[in-house]
Amino acid sequence: MTQHHEPAGEDLLRGKIYTGDGVSVSYDAPRCTHVANCVRGLPAVFRPKERPWIQLDNEPSAERVAEIVRTCPTGALHYALHGGPPEAPAVPTTLTPVMDGPLTLRGDLVIQTPEGEVREVRAALCRCGASNNKPFCDGTHARIGWKSDQPGGQAAADQRGDGHREEGQQADRAEQP
Ligand code: SF4
Ligand code: FES
Repeated sequence: MTQHHEPAGEDLLRGKIYTGDGVSVSYDAPRCTHVANCVRGLPAVFRPKERPWIQLDNEPSAERVAEIVRTCPTGALHYALHGGPPEAPAVPTTLTPVMDGPLTLRGDLVIQTPEGEVREVRAALCRCGASNNKPFCDGTHARIGWKSDQPGGQAAADQRGDGHREEGQQADRAEQP
C-alpha cells in the first residue's frame, strides 16, 4: 500500500467526461446500475433518453450538479468543480449491503482492480460473483435474479429498477440514498 493524498476532483473523473460552466461530470457506464438517483435529482440535466444524456447547460448551479452527483451510490458519476474543492470522502467510512445486490461503500477508499489501484469516495462492489467489471457491481445481479438471503439493507427493488440500461434509455426507478 502506498502513501496517498486526498484525491483532487479531477483524479476521480473516469469514463466519459461532460464539461459545463464551472463543473465537469464523468460517467463510467460499466459501473452504473441504473438506480437513477441522478435522473430523479436533476431531470433537466440527466436525460437518459437524449444525446448527450448529461446536459449541464440546463442547470446554472455547479454546486447543485455536484450535490446530485454525490447521490450516485455506485461511483459511476463523479464531478470536478472548476477551481472548487474535490468531493470529501465520508467520515466514517460506511459499508452498506444492498439486499439482493452489491455492497455499497462511501469513504476514503483505495480499491485494487485489474487495472491497478483506484482512489474512490463512492463504490458498489459485486457480491453475487457474476459482475463482468469486478470488483465493481455492473448490475448483473438483477439480471440473474441473485438473492442475498440477507435481511436489512436497502430494498432489492431499489436496485432492480427498470432504469436506463444504456444512455438514451429510460430511467424511472431510483434507489433511496
Ligand atoms: S448508478 Fe444510478 S445515480 Fe449513478 S449514474 Fe447510474 S443511474 Fe445515475
Ligand atoms: S452484486 Fe451486482 S453484479 Fe454482482
